[in-house]
Amino acid sequence: MKSSELPFVRDMFDRIAPHYDFLNRTLSLRRDVFWRRALAEALNLLPGAMVLDVACGTGDVALTILRQAAPGVRVVGVDFAPQMLRLAKPKVRTGRADHSIFLAAADAFALPFEPGRFDAVTIAFGIRNIQDKISVLKRFRDQLKPGGRMAVLELATPEQGALRWIYLHYFNRLLPLLGRFFSGHSFAYTYLPASVAQFPPAAEFAALMQAAGFEKVRYRPMTMGIAVLFIGEKPR
Ligand SMILES: C[S@@+](CC[C@H](N)C(=O)[O-])C[C@H]1O[C@@H](n2cnc3c(N)ncnc32)[C@H](O)[C@@H]1O
Repeated sequence: MKSSELPFVRDMFDRIAPHYDFLNRTLSLRRDVFWRRALAEALNLLPGAMVLDVACGTGDVALTILRQAAPGVRVVGVDFAPQMLRLAKPKVRTGRADHSIFLAAADAFALPFEPGRFDAVTIAFGIRNIQDKISVLKRFRDQLKPGGRMAVLELATPEQGALRWIYLHYFNRLLPLLGRFFSGHSFAYTYLPASVAQFPPAAEFAALMQAAGFEKVRYRPMTMGIAVLFIGEKPR
């Protein structure tokens, strides 16, 4: 991993892992479920497609993709936080997806796969934790087959006046208190709004994807701009 990366991120996710799903659903008012469904739909997977889900956390993206996908689709989920993966495993078993979802510990900067293996690569709520976004996007592009699709789902800050004000009050003041109360982790839910604030505006991130070698890059703000779904393709 590059030295510019934040050393505390893995430890932080390991520590909040037991409360992660509950807080995701609660703090987003279950919008996170809808956002992951939109990501899965946008992949347009054909039967038998192979998907790499980076920063898979507790497995929600992989499970969402499988629920919506054509027959024979398989998802490989990787994450560098062992406790997040530990929680993903029983969810995959309960979802009867053990034969279609494979989980592995790996850093986004050191993916243990041959280049050009995947029909789609996804990362949801993970890339804002990565400082060197262009390098990691290039690695994701290398993992794709020509014509393969990249989907990045990320939180963002709404741009409009009153909504922006309400959202920032909730996100910067109330959310850290709720997060600390339920998870017992004081730093993680202060870091969350700070990391979202640092995420580039959508047009800028789309330009980064282009610079990393993706074409047909487009993006779709969701829930009044609280989340943004970016799609790009590896040139054929
Ligand atoms: C906010 S969670 C998102 C989890 C999941 N994608 C979801 O939709 O709920 C961010 C995840 O990114 C992982 N992560 C952050 N940086 C990473 C990196 N460089 N390599 C692998 N995983 C990383 C963390 O361990 C954490 O599980």
